[in-house]
Amino acid sequence: MQNIFVVDHPVIQTKLTELRDFTADHRKFRNLLDEIAMLMTYEITRDFPTKPRPVRTPMEQTVGVVLARPVTLVPILRAGLGMTDGVLRVLPEARLGHLGVRRNEETLEPIAYYQKLPPDIASTEVLLIDPMLATGGSGSAAVEFLKRAGATNIKFVCLVAAPEGIAAVHAAHPDVPIFCAAVDRQLNEKGYILPGLGDAGDRIFGT
Ligand code: PRP
Ligand code: URA
Repeated sequence: MQNIFVVDHPVIQTKLTELRDFTADHRKFRNLLDEIAMLMTYEITRDFPTKPRPVRTPMEQTVGVVLARPVTLVPILRAGLGMTDGVLRVLPEARLGHLGVRRNEETLEPIAYYQKLPPDIASTEVLLIDPMLATGGSGSAAVEFLKRAGATNIKFVCLVAAPEGIAAVHAAHPDVPIFCAAVDRQLNEKGYILPGLGDAGDRIFGT
């Protein structure tokens, strides 16, 4: 599969295994997700363009580099919030948009219920974040919304992706790379990822 990047660092994989464990309570789950999101951010941002910036060290004048474009994080509510602080620790100057999308539990169709994005999103690097990519309905709808708002440089960052969801997002948005920590086996008949980690939102928020 093209345009899918699995961040398979051993430290991330160790934390993902602990997070999958059904005995992890919401406090442990939140901590692990936060740490993984922070660690994944280094890989995800590896190809961000930079520009030169003069800097005076205590010794002399030189030229360093800084990120060329601002970054916008866009968590898909609710579960994307569980990765937001981890990403922000690496990119503290990022602005934050929000997209509320939830699945209809019967039809698995996405229902969009909230949108708030920075007005200049078109000139920024956009990281769309949601731990779960299952059927791909929510992710595809969110990317569609970002594109209509003018975003062009979009990366979709998730934790666990199902092959069905990757195929759906690629079919709708072949230009958007997907970053994840694992590609799991399949979806079950209710649209849950196997082996997966259960309902991410419920595990993060203890609902
Ligand atoms: C989960 C998850 C994704 C979506 C993935 O959210 O956080 O947004 O399901 O499924 P899909 O790829 O089949 O669309 P959910 O709809 O459970 O909402 P929640 O975060 O509010 O619990
Ligand atoms: N959403 C989740 O939170 N978990 C899944 O396995 C699928 C969709």
